[in-house]
Amino acid sequence: MPNPKILVFSGSTRTGSHNVRLAALAVKELALIDADVTRISLADYPLPLYEGDLEANSGPPDNAVKLKQMIMAHHGVFIASPEYSASVAPMLKNALDWVSRVRERGDPTYAAFEGRVFAISSASPGRAGGLRSLMALRQILELGCGALVVPEQVAIPQADHAFDDMDNIADIGTANLFRAVLTRLVDMARLMM
Ligand SMILES: Cc1cc2nc3c(=O)[nH]c(=O)nc-3n(C[C@H](O)[C@H](O)[C@H](O)COP(=O)(O)O)c2cc1C
Repeated sequence: MPNPKILVFSGSTRTGSHNVRLAALAVKELALIDADVTRISLADYPLPLYEGDLEANSGPPDNAVKLKQMIMAHHGVFIASPEYSASVAPMLKNALDWVSRVRERGDPTYAAFEGRVFAISSASPGRAGGLRSLMALRQILELGCGALVVPEQVAIPQADHAFDDMDNIADIGTANLFRAVLTRLVDMARLMM
């Protein structure tokens, strides 16, 4: 049986981003549990800030269509989520909003969020590790877009000290929890094949 296809991206594109690092670790771990992994950067899908008249006049931008198609080409999606002002980073929210507006060839509403499974985790220099961004992101994905999101998630606090020299999570318990998130993602993605 072929491996499930998993898409990985970070809600930050910042140089030195903790969430880019977390996404890179997810790629490494997912490959060890028999997933075919694609990693993308939202920097390769620049999008204007969503605005209703813009959509009414021009439709979703090409990059929103491309990102939607990229998501739909996978059985599972892992998102590393930065926390801004106790919520989701604007770049990530904007990308999800645009993707939710793309409807091709009679797609159902929220087509990109159906028929696949999502997993989320966060890293932040703060003490809560971006947990509040995960609460908000889960709400957006599940309640806003009707997505299936695995129950397991990890918020990595004090992220500037949380990774070792090999870019692994230094704390063993947290590292194991992160593996559990990804294992559940792959197990459930297999059911979507
Ligand atoms: C506008 C703004 C608001 C922020 N709010 C929070 C916050 O509520 N909680 C938190 O843990 N970190 C907050 N931070 C700090 C970010 O977590 C930190 O910049 C982090 O490194 C961003 O993720 P990245 O490393 O993946 O780019 C905020 C940063 C900015 C710029």
